[in-house]
Amino acid sequence: MSLDPNAPRFRVRPPANWVNDPNGPFRWRDRYHLFYQHNPNAPVHADIHWGHASSPDLARWEHHPIALTPTPGGPDEAGCWSGCVVDDGGVPTAVYTGIDRHHTGLGAICLARAADPDNPALTEWTPSPTPVVAGPPSGLDVVMFRDPFVFRHAGRRWALVGAGHADGTPSVLLYDCDDLADWRFAGVLLDGNDPVAVDAFGDKAVGWECPQLFGTPGGEWVLVVSLWDGDPVSTGYLTGSLSVVGDGDLRFAPRTGGPLDHGRDFYAPAVLQEPERALMWGWSWESREPAEVERAGWAGVLTAPRVVDVHPDGALRVVPAPELDALRAARPFVTAPGAGTRLPDAYDLTVTARAVTTVRLGEALTLRLDPAEGTLTVRSAARPAPVEVRTPPGGELTVRVLVDGSLYEVFAGDRAMVTERIHRWPGEAPELSVEGSEATVTAWGLTPPALN
Ligand code: FRU
Repeated sequence: MSLDPNAPRFRVRPPANWVNDPNGPFRWRDRYHLFYQHNPNAPVHADIHWGHASSPDLARWEHHPIALTPTPGGPDEAGCWSGCVVDDGGVPTAVYTGIDRHHTGLGAICLARAADPDNPALTEWTPSPTPVVAGPPSGLDVVMFRDPFVFRHAGRRWALVGAGHADGTPSVLLYDCDDLADWRFAGVLLDGNDPVAVDAFGDKAVGWECPQLFGTPGGEWVLVVSLWDGDPVSTGYLTGSLSVVGDGDLRFAPRTGGPLDHGRDFYAPAVLQEPERALMWGWSWESREPAEVERAGWAGVLTAPRVVDVHPDGALRVVPAPELDALRAARPFVTAPGAGTRLPDAYDLTVTARAVTTVRLGEALTLRLDPAEGTLTVRSAARPAPVEVRTPPGGELTVRVLVDGSLYEVFAGDRAMVTERIHRWPGEAPELSVEGSEATVTAWGLTPPALN
């Protein structure tokens, strides 16, 4: 596997087999922990465990043993599905979806506590034998129920759960879980009939998976959902306000929103709220045929961490975490526009265009930057239709591209992200070309920083 040029080496993924959603990003004793949906036995979605990696700096990651394993006869017998990790009175606690042997869309909310909070690697987890919430609240016709996300607001602890209703309306359910062992249903936080949500996402989804909510330094709140129509489709965000209403429950009033990532290979992001910022990781699935995945023996990768915030106009602000700069080699391999530079398997490239500029990353990806129009057009060899994103028109447009094997993460200014998977054939030797008279280009190969 080590020679596969399509295999990402710097982003988090298990040593082999399957990964989907990132779960429970968590900071503990100066280390970042990141868990993920993982089938350790085959590169397909089945028998889901929680894999685990940790990092001192968001750049170097270390693998740990599997954190959560389905318990035979337990509430998670058929899978430990998505959830989060919280500090519960000094004990890191995973709050996750248990799928039982009947394997319907209705999960239970389960807890597992770190066996030894003093071990900074958090390698052992003890699941509770009974769920804290056995299933959806009665009387709401909920047919999809999963993915608890715990957050704090107004001095209390709350949780969101992703849901879908019998009539095809997606929603986010709210629970008061100030006592993590005793949850109270506190209403529907938002559903797919909300006019701002319809405007932002359309009406295709029948379920909202993996809801995430975070506060921004400007005081605004961002709700992120993954749009599910029976299969995963895409992601969306809403910005708005979060307030405590008369009876003590919470109300989220959306202001604006839209697609979260404009690419075709990004789903189920998980957010870590830090005191000064919010970090986000997503799942990037395979865009190649199942037979090729089977041959390769691995499927999926988590994206680089991204810092997410809101611009004053309500649009999302998104940039790669600055810690990723530590992966850049000491010297860039490109410092000027031109053609014919051989591209490595993993690199970090920035182009600033002051006129229309076309950047080709081998056969894989073509970017057309038009600063006067404020548009970036992304054309991927994996899919015929181009993706266009808009930034404010102006004198220049800066685009950053993080490439790691087959994972391409494109950032247009600090406004839009486009995640695509593009695989190449063995022996292909991609070259960089930049056409345009007024562009600056810098690109670094990636090297793992020394572990100390
Ligand atoms: C999103 C999702 C979640 C679920 C998990 C199962 O991709 O479907 O809703 O908890 O994946 O692996």
